[in-house]
This record gives sequence, C-alpha cells and structure tokens, in this order.
Amino acid sequence: MNVVTLPDGERVPALGMGTWRLGEDPARFREEAACVRRGLDLGLKVVDTAEMYGEGRTEEFLGKALAGLRERVFLVSKVYPHNASREGVRRACERSLRRLGTDHLDLYLLHWRGSVPLAETVAGFQDLRAAGKIRRWGVSNFDAEDLEELFALPGGADCTLDQVLYNVTRRGAEYDLLPWMSRHKLPLMAYSPMEQGRLADGGALGEIASRRGLSRWQLALAWVLRRPDTIAIPKMAGEEHLLQNQAMHDLELTAEELARLDAQFAPPRAKRGLEML
Ligand SMILES: NC(=O)c1ccc[n+]([C@@H]2O[C@H](COP(=O)([O-])OP(=O)(O)OC[C@H]3O[C@@H](n4cnc5c(N)ncnc54)[C@H](OP(=O)(O)O)[C@@H]3O)[C@@H](O)[C@H]2O)c1
Repeated sequence: MNVVTLPDGERVPALGMGTWRLGEDPARFREEAACVRRGLDLGLKVVDTAEMYGEGRTEEFLGKALAGLRERVFLVSKVYPHNASREGVRRACERSLRRLGTDHLDLYLLHWRGSVPLAETVAGFQDLRAAGKIRRWGVSNFDAEDLEELFALPGGADCTLDQVLYNVTRRGAEYDLLPWMSRHKLPLMAYSPMEQGRLADGGALGEIASRRGLSRWQLALAWVLRRPDTIAIPKMAGEEHLLQNQAMHDLELTAEELARLDAQFAPPRAKRGLEML
C-alpha cells in the first residue's frame, strides 16, 4: 500500500476512509461498522470524521464500531470554526474524545476558517497537544493565502496537512495551493475524491475505466492517488465499494491516460477560489 509521510515522520497509508453520513441510520449500523472494520483488516488506517457529522452521531458510531481497535486506527476529527477559540477547541475536543471512546486523536483539524483569529485556534491546538489529547493538528478548506497567514503565526508551521476538496472534476487547487503545499512539504488530504458519487458517464473517464474493467468512481480515485504526498478519504458504506476502492491504492495510470483525462478535465490556467462541499 502506498504511504504518505507526515511532517513529523509518521507514515500512513495513502488510502483512508471518510465517514460523512455514516452512523446516522441505526438500521445500517451493522453493515457500516463491518465496512470500517474490514477496511482496517485490508490495511487502511486513516479514519476521517468531524464533530459536525450527524452533530456527533458519526463520532458516537465510530466509538462503537472501533471499540477495541483503537491502536489500529489513525483517527482524525475536526472542530467547528465557531468552537475554535483557545478554550472552545479544548472543550470541543473533549466532547469528541468522549463520543469516540478514546483518550487522544491522531490528528485534529479546523474544519474551515471562521471568525475566530487563527492565532487563538493554534494556541488551543498546541495546548491540546501538550496535554496529550491530540498527537498533531492541521486545517481544512484553507487556500494558499490562508496557509501563508497561518505559517506566519508562532507555531503555525506545525500544521500537519490541509484537507481540501480535490478530484478530477475539481482541479482549482492545482494552480497555486498544491504548489504552495509542495514547497512547504505539507501533505494533502483530498476529500470527496469521487465528487460524492456524481461522476457523469462517457468521455475519457468512462472510456478509460471501461477499457481497464473499472468503474469511473474507481478511476477517479486512482487519479487522486496518483499524486505523491496525498491521502484520499473516500466514503463507502458497504463492502462492495470498499473492495473496489482498496484495489485502487497502487493503480498506475499511463501518461496517455492522464493526457486524455487532462483533455476532458482541464487543469486550471488561472487562480480560482478554493471550492468547498
Ligand atoms: N473537510 C471537509 O469540509 C469535508 C467535506 C466533505 C467531505 N469530507 C470528508 O471526505 C469524505 C469523502 O467525501 P464525500 O463523502 O463527500 O464524497 P466521496 O467520497 O467523493 O463520495 C462518496 C459517495 O461515493 C460512493 N462510492 C464510494 N465508493 C464507490 C465506488 N467504488 N463506486 C461507486 N460509488 C462509490 C459512496 O457510496 P456508498 O456510501 O453507498 O458506499 C458515496 O455515495 C467524507 O466522508 C468526509 O469524511 C470533508
């Protein structure tokens, strides 16, 4: 399995699991919990969640689904911007830890930038790290200018990664955000790598996928995973999608295939504001 080395040297598999919408329907608990556990058995490790997902229900679901398996998981959660004051971030983290049934997070992210000054949030993250409640922290939905501002703050360069929307239909980040991150050796965590399932049939994506005996969702995932220093966190609710996605972790796309995908989904030629879902 391809691995990504985080700035502190920790190595994690490039393919992880998203959890948005998981745990919201109690009738699906058994299937969804089995899917996350099977993902760990297949070598996946990164599990991404947030206090926002189901207003805590997804974290509670993970607490039950992953009971007894904590040491096999690289657990990521996110704080709401309105909870991201120095004191608010501590309280929000403690609530997340309780719901998740753990004493620490491996990575804690600011979900998006809000009105709380970044310096306060960074101070809150550093407090949590000193207290052993989080191993490391990072951000989400930050564009290049936001990262520039963050890195200029005391402790701001301790940021571990930026989690942003990135897939074959959403390439705006390639213009300046991803080059900025490469220059600063900041890994990318790509969310919605399959555009939440909304990938139209036809064109190069459909043709290359069918020639390789894959689905267009699998091909879209392989395309994100082609990048070094990129962790992709597709969400899958059952074993069929899990197995299909797990098979993409080391698929190599040819230069010709990449060029055909560039023709269908052109890389950006000018700055676009970072999109969010
Ligand atoms: N930081 C942020 O602001 C932010 C925003 C959005 C998402 N996220 C994170 O990123 C994760 C992933 O993004 P996402 O959930 O928005 O979208 P996504 O992973 O691009 O797409 C998920 C959808 O694709 C389907 N799918 C998965 N594997 C498939 C396959 N092999 N073939 C066909 N369909 C497949 C899933 O179906 P099933 O569920 O039926 O398997 C689900 O409907 C989230 O769960 C969340 O953890 C973060």
